[in-house]
Amino acid sequence: MYSEKVMDHFKNPRNVGEIENASGVGTVGNAKCGDIMRIFLDIDDNGIIQDVKFKTFGCGAAVATSSMATELVKGKTIQEALQVTNKAVMEALDGLPPVKVHCSLLAEEAIHAALWDYAEKNGIQIEGLEKPK
Ligand code: FES
Ligand code: FES
Repeated sequence: MYSEKVMDHFKNPRNVGEIENASGVGTVGNAKCGDIMRIFLDIDDNGIIQDVKFKTFGCGAAVATSSMATELVKGKTIQEALQVTNKAVMEALDGLPPVKVHCSLLAEEAIHAALWDYAEKNGIQIEGLEKPK
């Protein structure tokens, strides 16, 4: 049912935790299942994501997709991070079962919410970023 990569990231998730005084924090809930995800971003003066951590109160697919998403945005620019869609994360994980696709949205939404928080704190606008719901 799950790919080896999903199982690996579920059993051994990368970048779990919190960042104190993070540049941006995003918390989202999944309307479908009630699961919760929080992402912390540390962004430097050049707009590079130096560090990223996540915490989730969610299912295995949410853990695996968040773990992979953090790996994909680490060291990237804000614009590159916006390209890390749930589809990109699922592809990097060699797919998810159809009933688990909604879980992969949590990470994408939490990253966007954290970027929005960062933009608000710094009084800037990020091109292509929509206000989180
Ligand atoms: Fe969230 Fe299954 S509904 S863990
Ligand atoms: Fe809720 Fe996966 S079942 S995020």
